[in-house]
Amino acid sequence: MTLERVSRPIAIFDSGLGGLTVAAEIHRRFPSENLLFLADRARVPYASLSIALIARFASECFDFLLAHDPKALVVACNTVSAVALEETVARSPVPVLGVIEPTAKAAEKATVTGRVGVLATKATVRRQAYDKLLSRLRPGVQVFSNGAPLLVPLVEEGWTEGEIPKQIVEHYLTPIRRAGVDTLVLGCTHYEYFTETMHAIMGDGVSIINTPQVTAIELEKILAARGELQRSDKPGTVIAYSTDINEALDLVVNGLFPNPVFPNQITIQSAQIPPLRAEAAR
Ligand code: DGL
Repeated sequence: MTLERVSRPIAIFDSGLGGLTVAAEIHRRFPSENLLFLADRARVPYASLSIALIARFASECFDFLLAHDPKALVVACNTVSAVALEETVARSPVPVLGVIEPTAKAAEKATVTGRVGVLATKATVRRQAYDKLLSRLRPGVQVFSNGAPLLVPLVEEGWTEGEIPKQIVEHYLTPIRRAGVDTLVLGCTHYEYFTETMHAIMGDGVSIINTPQVTAIELEKILAARGELQRSDKPGTVIAYSTDINEALDLVVNGLFPNPVFPNQITIQSAQIPPLRAEAAR
């Protein structure tokens, strides 16, 4: 394995800023890895779109990331993982890791009672992505899902704290809490920003699965098996691309990551996403 191959970046994708929680965890565990993150902020939220359009937008974004010659592609978006993972795996020259599988596996390990709550986007709930996987992992498991459409726009606004977000989170979580689950899956990476609020609402008896953590652990296994983990003392670079850059973006990113989560290294750049070739030809 040449040094050059190992130092290729890890590409991480989300429709918006939720996937930055996954990027932050990967950066924390593997500070010498070069990371490329892409948020399709021009078109977030994806979950209210048709399946065909979600798949098309995701595909356009993957083309952008794959053009940077990454060594792996992390789909840090549950909605895209639920809708378009198989076709992405089929056409990617590098390993593709979605967030649903590592999260569902961790939930299956964590639950004692077999009652698992899933708070996710409506698209992910409709696809029954977690229900199907959890039932395969543990036949007889009971999954209680709810869609939480307002949480993605709140994160994109940088409004994750205070009474109003708390009331909205509580509204969406109440049916799941009442179902008496012992494990909660945050089936949308944007919801990671509300973890503390959710802990307070669900109580100590409920384990909340840490998607960024379990995804980073799975990524480590994949890269280690391919001999592609970067082992160096030199800090890696983190470039966050967004399909829409406006003056609020820096403020939101800095507000969501007030501590030096990406110490001095995160640069934000504009991503020009060309439409898929087939579309352009029409
Ligand atoms: N972070 C995405 C997810 O994990 C948000 C989806 C959306 O854009 O609606 O599902």
